[in-house]
Amino acid sequence: VGAAVVCAATAGRWARAAAILKELEEKCATPIGKLRHVADAMTVEMHAGLASEGGSKLKMLISYVDNLPTGDEKGLFYALDLGGTNFRCLRVQLGGKEGRVVKQEAEEVSIPPHLMVGSSHELFDFIASALAKFVASEGDDYQLSVGRQRELGFTFSFPVKQTSICSGTLIKWTKGFSIDGTVGEDVVAELTKAMERQGLDMRVAALVNDTIGTLAGGRYNDNDVVIAVILGTGTNAAYVERAQAIPKWHGLLPKSGEMVINMEWGNFRSSHLPMTEYDHTLDVESLNPGEQIFEKLISGMYLGDIVRRVLWRLAEEASFFGDNVPSKLQVPFTLRTPDMSAMHHDSSSDLRVVANKLRDVFGITNTSLKMRKTIVDICDIVAKRGARLAAAGVVGILKKQGRDTVAGKQRTVVAMDGGLFEHYTIFSKCLESTLSEMLGDEVSSHVIITHANDGSGIGAALLAASHSQYLGIDES
Ligand code: GLC
Repeated sequence: VGAAVVCAATAGRWARAAAILKELEEKCATPIGKLRHVADAMTVEMHAGLASEGGSKLKMLISYVDNLPTGDEKGLFYALDLGGTNFRCLRVQLGGKEGRVVKQEAEEVSIPPHLMVGSSHELFDFIASALAKFVASEGDDYQLSVGRQRELGFTFSFPVKQTSICSGTLIKWTKGFSIDGTVGEDVVAELTKAMERQGLDMRVAALVNDTIGTLAGGRYNDNDVVIAVILGTGTNAAYVERAQAIPKWHGLLPKSGEMVINMEWGNFRSSHLPMTEYDHTLDVESLNPGEQIFEKLISGMYLGDIVRRVLWRLAEEASFFGDNVPSKLQVPFTLRTPDMSAMHHDSSSDLRVVANKLRDVFGITNTSLKMRKTIVDICDIVAKRGARLAAAGVVGILKKQGRDTVAGKQRTVVAMDGGLFEHYTIFSKCLESTLSEMLGDEVSSHVIITHANDGSGIGAALLAASHSQYLGIDES
């Protein structure tokens, strides 16, 4: 009798778990029809955001980049990339017509978490001091022309209202940054003051978003790059727009006739987005409730935490991990997306990686294979929803550019970067296959996704060159 009771109890738990899973699957579903609605809504919002300031949730920020790199950029330039969990300093010697990238070096520093929620002063002092050290290590094989001041491309991956190519004010923080006193300030002025405090003589020649840097870096390598997408801690896209299609732009029409737009698509939202109770609570408990909804469904900062929330509910309502709810399941962000990715990619027959992660991350031991399989299924549902939505976003841009049909048969290249895209293979594969599914064979054979490896750093340096106060272009 005892065994029968245990059996019945186990069966009851599994039935509850199965119901929770089924509900998750249904709420996260992204059939092609839904994705088309998302893509269409994206296109509509793009128009609205270009029409007037504040016309849409999509800020459609004007980057002041109206010329992308050509390959003629020449000289020694620096770049500073701030916006994720790490920041990077980069030094590159550009060779101009003959040389391209002659030499480059980079250094990555992780940002102490307390600085992400501390004061503006502290954050900028920290990065300026790391940059000063990096500059001090410049070897003899780098050549700064005599009498020149060093110049920097500053990749600052947050929404910025640019006032020129080298100035702009922070609109809001995203991605876990929340620092008093920076919103509304000119971030270039902040950085410049911090560099002065470090005794570093350097001029910020270009202020760019990481999407803009990636677009520039991508274009340097391939002339057909017209869209850039970041899938990392956060997510965002930039693309090349016709200047005349930007009603809110009252400046002179650029000679090129083009302007690069930073969409800030992370803030996109639409009634067509598949949202679950997990997403709603994640949003409500976040540092920026009600904002960056698209980002919270897609990007690396959040995917792991969505999975954690599902596991927590399974533990609470279906005693999934036994009679007690493991306490670490309740702690936000304990399950990071790289851990989720490792579980999702576990190809061992007994799902050893899943078992180890559950032990290391949550202190959960003694899981059955069936439980571990369920966890992989949850990762699959959450990751694929994100990847498919990102693909729909890309289709929205292609539509706006008129590149979603066979008409022109022009080659269209999308430069992508970010840890999620780079390391979460199932995610990136799913994104690519969804793009083909949505575009159809013929169109998708003209739409190419490339990985712009650290495009944003190089891209910022290239834009610093083309906006140098000296001649940063090889005119020979
Ligand atoms: C966030 C930022 C955006 C950035 C993206 C990727 O969405 O707001 O500016 O491009 O993350 O880093």
